[in-house]
Amino acid sequence: MPIEVDPDWWKTMFDDVYLLTDARSVCDDTLTRLEVDVVCELLPMKCGHKVLDLCGGHGRHSFELCRRGFSSCTLLDYSQSLIDIAGDKSRAHDYPIQLICSDAREIDLPPNIFNHVLIMGNSLGYVPEPDADGKILSEAYRLLVPGGWLLADVVDGAAVKKMFTPNAWHEIGEDTVVCRQRELTKESISAREMVISKQNGLIRDRTYAIRLYDSQSLAILLEKTGFNQIKIHTDFSPHRFEGDYGFMNRRMLGVGQKP
Ligand SMILES: C[S@@+](CC[C@H](N)C(=O)[O-])C[C@H]1O[C@@H](n2cnc3c(N)ncnc32)[C@H](O)[C@@H]1O
Repeated sequence: MPIEVDPDWWKTMFDDVYLLTDARSVCDDTLTRLEVDVVCELLPMKCGHKVLDLCGGHGRHSFELCRRGFSSCTLLDYSQSLIDIAGDKSRAHDYPIQLICSDAREIDLPPNIFNHVLIMGNSLGYVPEPDADGKILSEAYRLLVPGGWLLADVVDGAAVKKMFTPNAWHEIGEDTVVCRQRELTKESISAREMVISKQNGLIRDRTYAIRLYDSQSLAILLEKTGFNQIKIHTDFSPHRFEGDYGFMNRRMLGVGQKP
């Protein structure tokens, strides 16, 4: 039976359970440091620059940039619960991060204000309307100063298709098991995810779908948005060990400059 997906799944999926199910990718400080190292290698980042961490979740990249001396980071995400978690952490550490809870397709900020826009950790491809990612990238473009840079870090669809497995599961600590059943279509991957506590039973039974890009389709999307100097870096595998990380160990980084 095909996996049926509520088109609005992405509005409610990114919460404290997601921080558990995806902890191996999004709650590992060593991995985040490595990702920020690569961002700083690929973009001409300077501490005084204004950075937008777009679809930034609970803010791990913004926090790492603050630790490195960046004094003007803005974190934007649709998930109020992730923004609240980021808010608690930024107050506790006194990090100067501006927090915005918003849909990235329509951002209430004036144009030409950021030197860099980062879209990290596979944050495109969730909204099912065909031009949704185009709208997110257009907003990134509008908000960049002329000469500013975009970096979009997404799962490498070509690699995902090669390594596709229909079933996967992993344990989190002693108690929790995450099971995923997947389906691959030409342009997307759908999954049913069940999260089970050995002590307390079912925590979550949800489905989701993510649009996939290969290097060519990502480059075309960046070009269509108006970016110049486009480069797609494939083979970005920040995880230290082989394994099924929901494909987060097969990523590519698309870079482009606003003329
Ligand atoms: C896989 S998480 C990655 C979060 C973060 N970039 C990281 O690497 O930890 C994807 C994030 O994209 C956000 N997102 C997806 N579509 C969005 C949209 N249209 N507007 C704002 N946020 C969005 C989700 O709320 C979620 O926090």
